[in-house]
Order: sequence, then structure tokens, then C-alpha cells
Amino acid sequence: MDLEGMAKISILLVGLWLLVNWSGLLDAKNMKYKNPKHSTDTRVEDLVSRMTLEEKIGQMLQVERKYVSADLLKKYFIGAVLSEGGSIPAPQASAETWIDMVNEFQKGALSTRLGIPMFYGIDAVHGHNTVHNATIFPHNIGLGATRDPELVKRIGAATALEVRATGIQYVYSPCIAVCRDPRWGRCYESFSEDPELVQAMTEIIPGLQGDIPNDSPKGVPFITGKEKVIGCAKHYVGDGGTINGIDEHNTVIDRDGLMKIHMPGYFSSISKGVATIMASYSSWNGVKMHAHHDLITGFLKNTLHFKGFVISDFEGLDRITSPPRANITYSIEAGVSAGIDMFMVPKHYTEFIDVLTMLVKNKHIPMSRIDDAVGRILWVKLMMGIFENPFADYSLVKYLGIQEHRNLAREAVRKSMVLLKNGESADKPLLPLPKKSPKILVAGSHADNLGYQCGGWTIEWQGVSGNNLLKGTTILTAVKNTVDPETTVVYKENPDVEFVKSNGFSYAIVIVGEHPYAEMYGDSMNLTIPEPGPKIITNVCGAIKCVVIIISGRPVVIEPYVGLIDALVAAWLPGSEGQGVADVLYGGYGFTGKLPRTWFKTVDQLPMNVGDPHYDPLFPFGFGLSTKPSKALYSS
Ligand code: GLC
Repeated sequence: MDLEGMAKISILLVGLWLLVNWSGLLDAKNMKYKNPKHSTDTRVEDLVSRMTLEEKIGQMLQVERKYVSADLLKKYFIGAVLSEGGSIPAPQASAETWIDMVNEFQKGALSTRLGIPMFYGIDAVHGHNTVHNATIFPHNIGLGATRDPELVKRIGAATALEVRATGIQYVYSPCIAVCRDPRWGRCYESFSEDPELVQAMTEIIPGLQGDIPNDSPKGVPFITGKEKVIGCAKHYVGDGGTINGIDEHNTVIDRDGLMKIHMPGYFSSISKGVATIMASYSSWNGVKMHAHHDLITGFLKNTLHFKGFVISDFEGLDRITSPPRANITYSIEAGVSAGIDMFMVPKHYTEFIDVLTMLVKNKHIPMSRIDDAVGRILWVKLMMGIFENPFADYSLVKYLGIQEHRNLAREAVRKSMVLLKNGESADKPLLPLPKKSPKILVAGSHADNLGYQCGGWTIEWQGVSGNNLLKGTTILTAVKNTVDPETTVVYKENPDVEFVKSNGFSYAIVIVGEHPYAEMYGDSMNLTIPEPGPKIITNVCGAIKCVVIIISGRPVVIEPYVGLIDALVAAWLPGSEGQGVADVLYGGYGFTGKLPRTWFKTVDQLPMNVGDPHYDPLFPFGFGLSTKPSKALYSS
């Protein structure tokens, strides 16, 4: 071989050596982060040490599915994707379609230099509520009425299983807001006005993530098993305490009050191993929570030793300024410096990458802050096991919306019903109703509407109306299922007095309430039931014996009608399994629910919470009449 040939081969060999070295193939056997035999800490340390700044910043992003692809995930090293409310891969998409989408994104993430897997997040806040055919459980306010942490834990486990059935690994649940003013549009996402009841309901976290071992170090996230998900306690902190319940507004309270009312849920959540905590859009005494270094880094991380990661809310960075995005460089520096680790940046993610890269390179943000954020995120991913099992398991699709979960939801519905009035006196109760009557009337806008009975955060962000987008049992159907076959059930949504009087009905069941809403769209300064609800109540209850069932995300104005009503039930937002309502109406089970929040007389009393000096409610916190199951009346 001539000299020229030998020179070419030498250059080729040197180039090959350099390539192999750069790519790290030579030390593949030393890639500790890929070896589950090493401790999580060792694997995190090894991986962070290998990452470029670009790869680290990519891990701090969670982007919305509509604005990204597998190729873009690879290009920008993005580590997480989400569905915002109602964001679906296809109309009425099957579990398989969801898995195909998640796995496609995963392929993009795994094709990066270090092959760090991504995870997918969604708001599964009362079951897997975005997904067609999923079981829809009662919203948190109804779960608070059950006073049953063990039930709520089972709901967490069922929800986790249905979420993993669609290939998704991360849920933005539970909301542990302590709603102190029902005028807040998110009050139904809050278990209660009482911090202790909210703490009890954090039992949903081991349901979602798995039971934390007794010897688990304090503050360490714990997730186990292919049927569990990463949970998220939200919204940190004081989201339910804003002035007049105005969403995303300002919570004015001293530190002692914040710690006593709004913080206890986080103590419990961290002790149960919650993996992530979401920052609130709201402010505390005028300082935006998304920019609050003292409460995020100082208290949550350094005092409570929270070892999971803090995630921003959706475009939470943008809303640090008013108007939003007025100074995005300031917002990004403020949010990252405050201690937030992952950022929900649905579409402006290249801007986030460019700005944060500049801030780090100009020493405005130390690499240590970036490494802390990335380390926490990787810790959760490694604990979740997605390095070893990055792709979804199609064998789980059979669990979506299974009857066992629907039975569980029905049990939760039963236990969430609060009986506020039952006949004119205790010795003349109207409930339980007789199964056998000649003819009964069912009336009201919410009697035969699955969308209404599920409320917001169902299929769509703001919820839906009607029965064609959901699988479940309306309350009207439940009544028909329960009464004796010889009982004629007449349904008329909005009957006039003449109709009510002239048909010989034994009694009527009136089901009315709020229309679905979410977040700021639910803020209400008057809390009235939308017409024709009140008119239906007066038309029917002024003429014959009536049971009124209120479908609402919170206490609403009912005081003017209580005298007309014979029996009154607060049903909250029961979800897909309306059969649970008939179960207690007809004595298959007794009423056991207790008010998770105060029911006011008039809105000008608000805010008014149990323990307040001037406490004059229509029905107090904890109130709820009981009935006994009437076996004779109820064939199982
Ligand atoms: C919303 C909500 C938050 C939710 C997030 C993602 O705006 O504030 O509760 O988890 O965005 O949908």
C-alpha cells in the first residue's frame, strides 16, 4: 500500500476514534445512569454530568401536544408533553390511539444523544376525564362530603390504572386547594374549606402513586408499578384564598394564616411521597407565587425538604407580569430563580430555550440552579421506571372505564350525597321514597344530562352538555332503573303548574343546578341557579310533594325556596354514575354525606367559613341528615 493509502486509513481511524469517543460509546459500559443496579442518586449524578446546557434546558420544558412532534422533541431535547383541557389525538379516541400518540413522542425523546425518556401529563382530576369512555368520578367537593379517605385512595388507584391504560404517566392531581369563598370558579376542585379535611383527602396520593414505604426518607417522591402515575399536588400555595374568590388573584393573609389554612395539605402530600407540586397562578400578599423564592425554594425545598420537582402552571410564567408576557425575559428569570423546575410552555418553547440559555451564559442564573431542576426531574423519571420501560403497555387498555371502576364511582356518588331537608319533620320524612307508586314526575334541566352531572374538566376543559360524548347513567335513567316496573315515570324538563297539578303524580323529583364551567369562567358574584331552575322548583314544589336535587360545584342560592321544598339534596357534580343518586333516594343505602363546606344564606355573607366569629349559615359545615337503608323497599 502506498503512502497516500496508508495516510487515508490513518485519518479514517483517528476520525472513527474521535467519533466513538465523543459519542461516549467507549464508556457505554460506564453509563451508570442506564444501569438500574446503581442508586437513583448515582444515576442522576452520572446523567447530569454528561448533559449539555441545551439538553438540560430541554428537560425543564413541558410542551402541549398540538405544538410539537417527535422530531421537535428530538431537536430541542424536550422532556415532557401534555394535553391541556380537552386536547385529544382524535374525536372519541380509543385507548390504543392515545398510546400510539404517546409512544410516537417517546420515540422522538429516545432518539436523542442520551436517550432520556419523556413523560406525558394530563388533568385526570375526577377520573380520566378527557378520555372517551373513561369512568368519571365525583369532583373533589363531593369526595370531601364522603369523609372517606380510604374510598378516595381507591379512586386514585382506579384513576391511575385508567390513565396508564392510555399510555400517560403523569396527572395534575390532586388539587388540594382550600377554597375559602365559593364564588371561586374552582371551588369544586377543592375537597373542603377545612384544612384538616383536605389533609385527610390527600390519601388519593398513595392511590395514584403507590404506598410510600415507612422507612422512605422525608420528602422523597415515591412512585411504584406500571399501574401507577406521577401525582401533582396543586396549586402551591393559597390558590383557594383569593379576594372574593377571584381566580388567579391575590390571597391576602398573614404567614400564620397561610400556614394554618393553605399549607397543611402540602405537609400531608409530601409525607405521602407526592412526586410533583404545581405553582399557583395566584399571589400571596401581592407577590406572584410563580416568582416566590421564599415559599418555593426557602420553605418547600429547604424547610420541608421536598425532593420532587416543582412545575409551573400552564403559561404560568407568562402571567407573572400584567399584562401577560409583558417582559418574558424577566418572567423566565424570576420563575427559574424562584425554584420552579419544569415549565408548562405550550407553544413558545424555543423562546424559553433561547432566553434561559442567554441567562445562564450571562451568569444571571447559576448552572447550579439548572442542575437542581434537572436533577429533580430525572429523579422522578428514574423512580417512575420509564428509563427501563419507556413505552406504554397495550395490555392495560382493557381497564379503561371498566365496570369495577363504575361501581366504585357509584359508591362514591352515594356517599357524597348530602341530605339537607327531609320532610316537614323528623317523624314525617319524605325520603327514602317508595319504589312503588302509580305515577311520578321527574323534572329539571339536569335530570337527563351526563355532561351537566359531570361538570367542568370533562371531555372539554369547560365541560359539555348532553349524553352523546360520555358513557354513564343519568339520574333520570337511574330513577327508571330503580322504581317498581309498575311505576310510571314521566319526564318533563320544564313543566308548567297546570301540567304538574293535573296529572295525579304521587311526588316529583326536580333536578336542577349549575351549567359546567372551569377556572375563571366559573367565578360568580351572585351564585344563583341559572333559570329555568328556580322557576321549575316553584312550579313543581308549589303544587305537589317534591325532592329537589341540586347539581352544583358549590353551595348556591337556595334559601328563598327551602320552605317550598319537601326534601333537599346537595349532589355536587356526581360524574358518570348517576345510579348512586337513586341508590340513596330509594333507600338502597342510607344518606351519610356531610357538608364539606358552609352553605350560606345570602352571598353578602361571603366569605364565611366554619370557625369564623360571625357564623350564620343556612346549613353549617358538617351538616347532613341521615336515613337508614330500607331493605324491604329495595331489591338488590
Ligand atoms: C390549568 C390549571 C391547572 C392545570 C393546567 C394544565 O390552567 O390551572 O390546574 O393542571 O392548566 O391543564
